[in-house]
This record gives sequence, C-alpha cells and structure tokens, in this order.
Amino acid sequence: MRNLFSYEGKRCLFAGCFSGMGEAAARIVRELGGSVVAADIRKPSGFDYESYHEIDLRDAAAIEQLVSETAASGPIDRVFYCAGLPGTRPKVDVMLVNFIGLRHLIEHAVPHMQPGGAAVSISSGAGMGYMGMQEKVGALLELDDPAAARDWVVKHQDEEWLEAYSFSKMCTITWTIRRAATLTPETGVRLNCTSPGPTDTPMMPSFVEQSGQAFFDAYPKPIDNRNSTSEEQGWPLVFLNSDAASYVSGENLYTDGGACNGMMLGAIQLDLSSLGR
Ligand SMILES: NC(=O)c1ccc[n+]([C@@H]2O[C@H](COP(=O)([O-])OP(=O)(O)OC[C@H]3O[C@@H](n4cnc5c(N)ncnc54)[C@H](O)[C@@H]3O)[C@@H](O)[C@H]2O)c1
Repeated sequence: MRNLFSYEGKRCLFAGCFSGMGEAAARIVRELGGSVVAADIRKPSGFDYESYHEIDLRDAAAIEQLVSETAASGPIDRVFYCAGLPGTRPKVDVMLVNFIGLRHLIEHAVPHMQPGGAAVSISSGAGMGYMGMQEKVGALLELDDPAAARDWVVKHQDEEWLEAYSFSKMCTITWTIRRAATLTPETGVRLNCTSPGPTDTPMMPSFVEQSGQAFFDAYPKPIDNRNSTSEEQGWPLVFLNSDAASYVSGENLYTDGGACNGMMLGAIQLDLSSLGR
C-alpha cells in the first residue's frame, strides 16, 4: 500500500522552526523522509536540514530573497509557516510576523510550486472570533502590499479593537479560507491552517504574562486536562501538508481537543467567574 503520509522526495520550506511547533513539525518531516529548508531568526539545532537561512520575517524583501534562493536551488513542494510572536511584543511586529509575513511568504512561494503542493500555517484559538470581525479583517486583507498592510496596522494600532495577537490570527484564518477558494482551483496548491489551544512551547509563558495564570487554569482542556505538546501540534501540520490530505483545502483545523468548537456551540463553557469576568 502506498504510504500517503510519507514525505520521501518532498522538499519543504519551513519558516519558524527554531523551537516549538515548527521545530516539532520539521523533525517529523525529516523522520518521514522529507528534506527541510530551514528559515528562522535563530539557527535550529533539533533536526538536520538541507540549508539554513537566517531571516527576520518582519522584512518583506528578505522573504522575497528567501523564496527566490530556495526556488533557485530546487523545487518547493511544501511550505510550513510556523513562526509567530505573542501579544506581549509590539503590535506592529506581531502583525508582521504572524500575518503579513505569512501571507507574503506563501504568496511568493506558490508560483514556484506544482499542482499537488500545499502550504500550511498556524493560527490560534485566539482567532476564533474571526466571523464577527470580517469588516476590519477584510479591510487589511485588501492590502496585498506588505508595506501598505504595515501602514494600515500603524494607523490603527491604538484602536481598542486591535488586540494584535488575536487580530493576526483572525486574519490568518480568514485569509486561508478566502485565498484557498481561488488559489487551489487556479494552481492546484492546497492552503490550510491549524488553530491550536494552549501548548507547552517557549511562547506559553508570554501568554500567561498577558492573560494571567487564572485564565489558563480556567481555559477548557478537554484532553487529560492538560496543554498540548509541540509534537501534538506538529503532526496535524504534517498531515495537512501530506498527500493524505489531498482533498483538504481552505480548512482551519482546531487542534485544541475540541475546546473552540465546543465553546462556539455552547457545549463547553469557559467559566471566568473566578476572575470576576
Ligand atoms: N504555544 C501556544 O500555546 C500557541 C497556541 C496557539 C497558537 N500558537 C501559535 O503557534 C505558532 C508557533 O509558536 P510556538 O508556540 O511554537 O512558539 P515558539 O516561540 O517556540 O515558536 C515561534 C518560532 O517563530 C520564530 N520567530 C519569531 N519571530 C521571528 C522573526 N521575526 N523572524 C523569524 N522567525 C521568528 C522563533 O524563532 C520560533 O522558532 C505561533 O504562530 C503561535 O502564535 C501557539
């Protein structure tokens, strides 16, 4: 039987693989026989790679160079965009790394990809409210140019509704769903994202700093009453970009044990009464 989960012969561009979910996904891809072109602001050491590109994903020109260099040295079969910054960082940086750079990198990579290729990125359960924010999210999504998108964020950054982390994640989910609708029929490249719940990665302490331990104590953890691990987030990313998911596109996959879907239908309660909320 053909193993559709295999990555043999697949060359994967990883943006954000020094630590956390990206590192875990890259390690799994290597174990499944794929090769990894690693791009991060810090040099990974947890797996072996074909090449490493030091990059600051806030920089659109650097993203274009990364994609050109990667395409010049071989095929781009899969893209994994796993980089991110927490909401404790400056708003413009958060929007640049979490959404504007993500979109720019994938848009630049797709013309170099073949039908059957795929790109996946990481959103968050924090973006769950995207349906109610379509007007504002849509205004940013109209600005394809990264500099124009950045200017829009600078202009709106002091407005009360722009909580950069959750807004960046709403943008990622919305863009993934909307963009896949044209991208996949036109190019044969699939586009998906995951929305993890709280996960024990180096980013977790920043979330606790921002929202408080009591919030995360109260947050639903349907599986074993624990956070997920990087590996538990890596595998769904690897699945979505594998041939086993050949008919999956425009999907935002909640990888949170059922928490967000449960909360959206009222089947799971987020009880913040202990926080006075
Ligand atoms: N940990 C959680 O609980 C959680 C929950 C939901 C979503 N997420 C999302 O998962 C994704 C991965 O985060 P993680 O939890 O694995 O944390 P992490 O901090 O381990 O990973 C983030 C990665 O992004 C890289 N990075 C950050 N800024 C960069 C820049 N300017 N240029 C290049 N690389 C840069 C880091 O070096 C690191 O490799 C993020 O998008 C995050 O928002 C995390």
